Amino acid sequence: MAQIGKLNAAKAALAEVKNGQVIGVGTGSTVAIFIELLGKKVKEEGWDVLCVPTSYQSAYLAIENGLRLTTLDEHPVLDLAVDGADEVDADLNLIKGGGAALTREKIVDGSAKRFVVVADKTKLVAALGEKFPVPIEVIPLARKTASMRIAMLGGDPKLRDGGDRKDGPLVTDNGNFIIDAKFSPVKDPRSLEFELKRIPGVVEAGLFVHLAHTAYIGDDCGVQRIDRRRE
Ligand code: A5P
Repeated sequence: MAQIGKLNAAKAALAEVKNGQVIGVGTGSTVAIFIELLGKKVKEEGWDVLCVPTSYQSAYLAIENGLRLTTLDEHPVLDLAVDGADEVDADLNLIKGGGAALTREKIVDGSAKRFVVVADKTKLVAALGEKFPVPIEVIPLARKTASMRIAMLGGDPKLRDGGDRKDGPLVTDNGNFIIDAKFSPVKDPRSLEFELKRIPGVVEAGLFVHLAHTAYIGDDCGVQRIDRRRE
């Protein structure tokens, strides 16, 4: 069951947390388990831990679990960031943004001395783009123009709906839209990230290249730790 895998991954990430740390907390169902475990740990041990959230969703969940929040203005360098992923390849490159939080996630995760991914086994892929499209955050004005440029790069762009087509486009925490672009597969994640970010109106691309240090990949039996290879 994916749920047990998520729990095992979240437990492994929790074991990295130390009293006094400032921690980036990602978005999604796996990080939600981590936040609950962290809240319990902090309460039981009387720890002094601060969290920088990557979305309103994770901010409110952290508060509900008794965690104290801070900002990157106060703590621009984080001790640790824990975040989920939609796909993870063998080099620990990621697709993220299924929860539409990719821009804040990249800023927060990239500000940490150590960035740890928590995911269940279904997220492991041989090549990025195998199962999941690449989420791209765009300002609303660039909805069509950016889509055309993404198609020229070989992607199949679709504007993400806010749950139901009748509701119109999904609006991110930053007031922008998300274009999900299927690339089957992503041949060169680093150069695609670069090309996407050159498109006018693109705020961020959900390709996280060479950012994660470790991934905890959970399944029913336990957890597999994958460390980034040195380059
Ligand atoms: C949020 O924008 C995403 O990057 C999530 O981290 C990703 O979708 C993983 O979510 P789950 O843990 O729910 O699979």
